[in-house]
Amino acid sequence: MKSIIILYSYHHNNTENVAKAIAPVLGADIKCSNEVNQEELQEYDLVGFGSGIYDSKHHVSLLELADRLPEVTDKKAFLFSTAGVTWKSKVNADHSAIREKLQSKGYIIVDEFQCKGFNTNSFLKLFGGLNKGRPNAEDLKRAEKFAGNLK
Ligand SMILES: Cc1cc2nc3c(=O)[nH]c(=O)nc-3n(C[C@H](O)[C@H](O)[C@H](O)COP(=O)(O)O)c2cc1C
Repeated sequence: MKSIIILYSYHHNNTENVAKAIAPVLGADIKCSNEVNQEELQEYDLVGFGSGIYDSKHHVSLLELADRLPEVTDKKAFLFSTAGVTWKSKVNADHSAIREKLQSKGYIIVDEFQCKGFNTNSFLKLFGGLNKGRPNAEDLKRAEKFAGNLK
């Protein structure tokens, strides 16, 4: 199964660390969402879309890429993210924008992953930030396990 991860991670490279835990398990390439051309995705069976959560959704470059993608049949995708605040119902909401765009193009979302990421956005930096040290070793182990289940 040929896999690729499309990533945007800029705040503290939190999601990049998660992508680097997932990629070797799948033997996946990692590409920045700004560098992907939609045609090249055709050669992959499984496409992962990951970024931090910014204003309750994935990075705009991933959302815009999803808008540009051609319709597909039987192509599998997975979603992942890191966020300042995480809980079960929130991950569903945080991922809904990209999930809906991809599903409208025919992608089958096989699974989703989220963990905490260090967050110094806005006033949080005044207090040393939220979730220092996350993702931690346990988060990355969980990400590896998630990737193992995708195979
Ligand atoms: C501009 C901005 C907006 C953010 N908005 C949210 C948000 O709506 N919900 C949330 O849980 N975390 C939010 N965060 C925290 C990030 O999702 C978190 O720090 C994430 O791990 C950053 O990932 P990155 O280091 O891969 O860029 C925000 C961070 C920034 C910088």
